[in-house]
Amino acid sequence: MSKIILTGDRPTGKLHVGHYVGSLRNRVLLQNSGDFDEIYIMIADAQALTDNAEHPEKVRETIIEVALDYLSVGLDPAKSCLFIQSQIPELTELSFYYMNLVTVSRLQRNPTVKSEIQMRNFETSIPVGFFTYPISQAADITAFKATTVPVGEDQEPMIEQTREIVRKFNSVYGETLVEPEILLSSNKACLRLPGTDGKAKMSKSLGNCIYLSDPEDAVKTKVMGMFTDPDHLKVSDPGKVECNPVFIYLDAFCRDEYFAEYCPDYACLQEMKDHYTRGGLGDVKVKRFLLAVINEELAPIRARRAEFEKRIPEVYDILHAGSAKAEAKAAGTLSEVKAAMRINYFDDSELIRIQSEKYNG
Ligand code: TRP
Repeated sequence: MSKIILTGDRPTGKLHVGHYVGSLRNRVLLQNSGDFDEIYIMIADAQALTDNAEHPEKVRETIIEVALDYLSVGLDPAKSCLFIQSQIPELTELSFYYMNLVTVSRLQRNPTVKSEIQMRNFETSIPVGFFTYPISQAADITAFKATTVPVGEDQEPMIEQTREIVRKFNSVYGETLVEPEILLSSNKACLRLPGTDGKAKMSKSLGNCIYLSDPEDAVKTKVMGMFTDPDHLKVSDPGKVECNPVFIYLDAFCRDEYFAEYCPDYACLQEMKDHYTRGGLGDVKVKRFLLAVINEELAPIRARRAEFEKRIPEVYDILHAGSAKAEAKAAGTLSEVKAAMRINYFDDSELIRIQSEKYNG
């Protein structure tokens, strides 16, 4: 069986380093591993509209930001098909049929949707489209017969929901759809990078994000102002590395070779952590090192971005061509789905013959 990747992001804001370590970096590795037969990366604008119905311009304007983020981290349109969700009408059609296979109570149990409803104060007025987006996400994944979905941890309930829909569909209509697997980052620090303020998650509204497109001076201000261990008041005080965002970021970004170049007092992160824990290592020194590490990681991303920013019409062309290719794939799956459901009336000469005989003997 072919190995196929499908994944994507909602275009509601520029992508940040949490997206990068949680999923983007991994997608580029997978892309370049040569292990996959097809790779689809989707800008999920239709899903973004499920809770932004009144702000379509925000979604519209963010599409190019996300596309630039994709290209600048190293997703290569020659290897990965980059496309826009709303341009694939087959996805909506699949969602409509899958809706019949899912109960309201099952959707209500989805923990990610639950917390999103809370965050948006939607409790009493959830848009139906938002409530059902896990079903549309199952359409996104199954339309491409994806075997592998590299995403952040918060997407786990959507993949589980997709697997259930696949099993239900196949048992009712016959083996048609492919059950996908989630692929999470193996580095625990990458699963959910906290904000620079120490809050559990990076979020635009909290203003605690480092964006992939941030210039060097912005990253410097953000890193030097990061929350650390609040009890580590003097350099000589022993400090905590757990729950300390500066060290969590180092866990996510640092490679041993960076020490020789930027902080030769230590050979590896563990030595630095041990010193911090014992006392005698100041926050500023750790932050300066983290800044060097992040800049090292972001430098090639910034350089590629600057190139693509000069070629915006070409970026739209990439998305246009990707959307055409993606639609062809989704259309193939949709016809298999309709055939399995036996709603392909006009392709079914058997049906026409039997009905004809019924009336005419
Ligand atoms: N829910 C994802 C997010 O919030 C976006 C998304 C939509 C997606 N459809 C998908 C991710 C299918 C993986 C597979 O970013």
